[in-house]
Amino acid sequence: MEKVRIGMVGSKFAADFHADSYARNPQAEIVAVAAIDNLEEYSKKWGVKDTMTDFKELCKRDDVDLIDVCVPNFLHHDVVMEAAANRKHIICEKPLATTVEDAREMVDFVKKQGVKLMYGEDWIFAPALLRAIELINEGAIGKMLWVKAKEVHNGSHSPFAQQKKYCGGGSLMHLAVHPIGFVRYLFGEKAVEVNGWVSGGGEKNYYHKNYTGEDWGACMLKFESGRYAFCEGNYITVGGMDDRVEIYGEEGRLNIDLTFSSPIQAYSRPGFEYAIEKTDTTRHWTWPAVDEFANLGYVDQLRYFIDCVLKDEDPMFGIRGEDGLACVEIVLAAYESAETGKTVKGSW
Ligand SMILES: NC(=O)c1ccc[n+]([C@@H]2O[C@H](COP(=O)([O-])OP(=O)(O)OC[C@H]3O[C@@H](n4cnc5c(N)ncnc54)[C@H](O)[C@@H]3O)[C@@H](O)[C@H]2O)c1
Repeated sequence: MEKVRIGMVGSKFAADFHADSYARNPQAEIVAVAAIDNLEEYSKKWGVKDTMTDFKELCKRDDVDLIDVCVPNFLHHDVVMEAAANRKHIICEKPLATTVEDAREMVDFVKKQGVKLMYGEDWIFAPALLRAIELINEGAIGKMLWVKAKEVHNGSHSPFAQQKKYCGGGSLMHLAVHPIGFVRYLFGEKAVEVNGWVSGGGEKNYYHKNYTGEDWGACMLKFESGRYAFCEGNYITVGGMDDRVEIYGEEGRLNIDLTFSSPIQAYSRPGFEYAIEKTDTTRHWTWPAVDEFANLGYVDQLRYFIDCVLKDEDPMFGIRGEDGLACVEIVLAAYESAETGKTVKGSW
């Protein structure tokens, strides 16, 4: 196999940055896309020949090797099951599913069908975080002690992400799942305890009363080795998406800023088209991203997944279907803890 032929499910935000990554990879080609809107614009922009509204039709095609799942969270289960039934390899965006039962069924069925399920945790490929891991491996901060990490912004562009029944939760499920997945990878071990706190959804939310999921959520995870990590996701942060990781060691510390660390500082009176994700103005001082999709890890992540298919290799720890399942388990344990006020124990 020289090229992986991709069937894209979804045609908007995530499908767009996936297509951008494939356009940079001569060994990847989107042959068809299934979605319920934006098909004409998407197919024109990315040169995709065939469009359709039914993802089942896409999964059946002989000219598709891999199904890329870029639809709202509640649909991940059905698309993954259909793709696996048709023996296609699968890339699934985060979170893997909206319930533990769905996620487990997906992981088990994919295994039975003998296809690959690759979980889209892009932070594991963010160049700044990989450089931080290199420094840690060199001994730069001594023994790692604890981590604080967050993804926060001013609210989701996707109406599906704003409603619990489509999202599986609120900002903890939709945003904090990134730091949770990354810290698991960084520590290379399982979480064994979680405590969670959330704003509560609807009228209980701090700002987005029309979101049924929480607009602020945080959890403290304890890992097998006894180390802790604090992970946060919120929709109450104005001024652009803020993705940060602080890693504390016995001999040093690392502060990593994925979204506000552009080498360009711009001062503009009239403003311009785009600076970084979720900014509502580009006037006055901003830090316009140079290559946002690469900085967030999408480009290298999708190249890695395509290589896994071409070389017939299994994805590494952190981005396997099982890791996606573990992240869903952790988020749902955090919700349970937020509700009961108790620590939830497990092995995820
Ligand atoms: N890794 C990341 O940083 C990141 C960033 C954004 C979104 N995501 C994930 O990507 C996924 C999609 O999010 P988005 O922001 O692109 O959402 P979106 O609302 O922008 O787009 C949703 C897409 O799903 C399609 N769709 C909806 N119902 C469908 C159906 N029944 N059949 C086929 N297509 C259908 C729509 O046509 C649309 O193209 C979500 O799971 C989200 O969590 C990940």
